[in-house]
Amino acid sequence: MNLIYNVIVLFFLFSFSKTESASPLVYSCNDDTKTSNTTQISRNIDNLLSKLVAGAVRKGFVTASSGEAEAQVYGLSQCRGDVSKTNCSICIQEAAKDLREQCPDQSDARVWFDYCFLTYKPSKFFGQVDFSSGDGIYFSNVENVKNKRVFSRKLGELMDKITSEAVRPSQKGFGKGKSVISSLVTLYALVQCTEDLSGINCARCVGTAVGDFTRFCNNKEGCRVLYNGCFVRYELYPFFFPL
Ligand SMILES: *[C@@H]1O[C@H](CO)[C@@H](O)[C@H](O)[C@H]1NC(C)=O
Ligand SMILES: *[C@@H]1O[C@H](CO)[C@@H](O)[C@H](O)[C@H]1NC(C)=O
Repeated sequence: MNLIYNVIVLFFLFSFSKTESASPLVYSCNDDTKTSNTTQISRNIDNLLSKLVAGAVRKGFVTASSGEAEAQVYGLSQCRGDVSKTNCSICIQEAAKDLREQCPDQSDARVWFDYCFLTYKPSKFFGQVDFSSGDGIYFSNVENVKNKRVFSRKLGELMDKITSEAVRPSQKGFGKGKSVISSLVTLYALVQCTEDLSGINCARCVGTAVGDFTRFCNNKEGCRVLYNGCFVRYELYPFFFPL
C-alpha cells in the first residue's frame, strides 16, 4: 500500500468460520484528500452516496457524480454478482454509512464488504484500471494446502476459466466456479471486475490480482486480493451463492 492511504482492516474471516456476512472487510481513506465536513464537496459526497445506494439497489452496479468543477465527486457502487437483491441492498446501505464514518473528511475513499464494494474520488476514474493506491489488499488463510503441486495447477486452471468467463460482456465482469482436487477437497473461486471496465481492462486487473497469488497467497487454503477495479477470492469451501 502507498503510505498516504490509511487502511483499516477490521477483521478477516478465516476459512474455518464459514459464516459470510454483510460486514466490512476493509476501508481505505486517502489522507491527501482531506476536506472539512462543512465544505461543498462534503455535501456533494452525501448527495453522491444516496445515488450510489439507490443505483446499486436497483441494478447491482452504478456510477454517478455529484457537484461541479472543483467540488465534483465521482463514485461507483457494486454488489457481488451472486448476491441477492435484498442482501445487496443491506450491504450497500451499510457501506455508504460506514464509509462516511470511517473516512469522514476524505474525498477519496473506498470500502470492501463481502457482498459489495463502494468508492468515490474527486476525479473521474470510470473505465480505468486503477492501481494508484499501490499494491492490492490481501487476506489469506493461515493454513497451508497439503498437495502444493496439484493445488497450484488446479488453482491456475480454475482462475483462467473463471477469468475468461468474467470478461464476456454478458457476464458483467463476474465469474465463479469450482474444481475437484481430491475426493475430499473441492476448490471454489470467484472473480469480479467493476462493471465499468472493458473486457481487456478487466483481464488486466484480474491478471494482476492473480499474479499476486504467488507472493501473498502462496499455498494457502484461502485467499483474497482486492483492487479498486476487481477482486479475486478462492477457498476450500463454498462461499458464493447458491451454496
Ligand atoms: C443473505 O445473506 C445471508 C448471510 O449474510 C445468507 O445467510 C442468506 O442466505 C442470503 N440470502 C440470499 C437470498 O442470498
Ligand atoms: C463536522 O465535524 C465536527 C467535528 O468533527 C462535528 O462536531 C460536526 O457535527 C460535523 N458536522 C456535520 C454536519 O457532520
